[in-house]
Amino acid sequence: MKKYTVAIIGVGNRGGDVYGRLLMQFPEQFKIVSLCDAKEDRLSLFGDEFGVDPALRFLSEEAFFAEKRADLCVIATQDRDHVRHALAAFRLGYDIMTEKPLSDIATECEELLAAQKKYGGKALVCHVLRYAPAFVKMNELLKSGAIGRLVSIDATERVAYWHQAHSYVRGNWRNRESSTPMILAKCCHDLDLLQYYAGARCKSISSVGDLTFFKKENAPEGAAARCVDCPHKDTCTYSATSFYLDKWAEEGKPTDCWPYTVLAPVPVREEALVEAVKSGPYGRCVYFCDNNVVDHQITQMTFENGVKATLTMMGFTSVMGRRITFYGTAGEMTLDEKEHAIFVERFGEEPQRIDTKIIEDNGYGHGGGDLCLVEGLYDMLEGKATAETSLERSVESHLMGIYAEESRLAGGKLFYVHGEN
Ligand SMILES: NC(=O)c1ccc[n+]([C@@H]2O[C@H](COP(=O)([O-])OP(=O)(O)OC[C@H]3O[C@@H](n4cnc5c(N)ncnc54)[C@H](O)[C@@H]3O)[C@@H](O)[C@H]2O)c1
Repeated sequence: MKKYTVAIIGVGNRGGDVYGRLLMQFPEQFKIVSLCDAKEDRLSLFGDEFGVDPALRFLSEEAFFAEKRADLCVIATQDRDHVRHALAAFRLGYDIMTEKPLSDIATECEELLAAQKKYGGKALVCHVLRYAPAFVKMNELLKSGAIGRLVSIDATERVAYWHQAHSYVRGNWRNRESSTPMILAKCCHDLDLLQYYAGARCKSISSVGDLTFFKKENAPEGAAARCVDCPHKDTCTYSATSFYLDKWAEEGKPTDCWPYTVLAPVPVREEALVEAVKSGPYGRCVYFCDNNVVDHQITQMTFENGVKATLTMMGFTSVMGRRITFYGTAGEMTLDEKEHAIFVERFGEEPQRIDTKIIEDNGYGHGGGDLCLVEGLYDMLEGKATAETSLERSVESHLMGIYAEESRLAGGKLFYVHGEN
């Protein structure tokens, strides 16, 4: 069995906590030999944990990309960096595994495809849900004709109010200029799944959505710019002192647990967390942030085989998780992430509930998808299978997101993904 050497750029939550630790579970297949991160604490935490030679730990991307360090380059930096880092990796002759979203600019997506063609590297994009057992099971049911011919899909991405506030109001994905629009940052998995389930390319798309609530005019009377100074801090639904300090204490003050690791260096200490809430971005009032991404968005699509779909991204939900209903000529089916179940209702028959918890429970995130993605990665490197989430497929769903955002900005105008607009 061939062992592949791995270099990771961006050892934050995805690159370090998730993929790095996962790859370490497969010592026969992978060896992490080089790391790059702009943060010293992440670099030394994972450099030590993964046993990386200090000479091959880099704080600057220029030094990291000065030469090829391994067989595979894992790119887990922020949204705006993926294209730059993927192009640099292709040029050096790496195979790559890159985080999503790739880009919100169509020409950049094309540039990536052209670079892959030119330099010949294999590529896997981290659309983890395509590997998640419950989502794979749903595809098998559809393809086996469980509900006859698929007619339409109705998908809801329930973000959860606290997650909306954490990531999309205060956090890294709050502003489309520094990250990407919500339809790509949050929903590129959903768009990818819709094309996977529809079984065809998207023909046309339109979208509406706004930032409705997290704006200064909705702040309660007398609200302060920072939660620590606010008279509403003990009653506000979005209070940062409740979210990050009270909850952390209730959870037993974990030192290595998301979302606290986003606020403070690992190991998370009380003083650092208190300071982050006092003076960092996550302690800001949700009504006084520099956010501009939407808090709800509704997108509708027609695929080239006639299948229709709607996708509702909703920040105002109490729980997190996708709920996707499929309507076919012989019945309907719903995949509910929160319920860990697929509900099948064939017309004229008793409804059936398929428990997906058993197949999801491999101990890893995204319904077990994170683990299965790494297994798929090895097959791709071995040339045994094309990545389920190849660059080509991923670019296709990115184009859907890019046109959906263009449509939203144009008040819901219909766009053709591959035709004249
Ligand atoms: N596939 C998924 O399901 C999924 C889930 C969450 C996040 N993501 C995506 O993964 C990416 C990373 O997200 P995250 O939550 O791990 O973020 P993070 O902030 O925890 O990690 C990013 C890391 O990159 C480092 N970094 C930034 N710029 C750098 C540079 N120029 N050179 C070297 N290091 C640099 C940061 O210091 C940080 O440690 C994002 O693009 C995000 O959208 C994907």
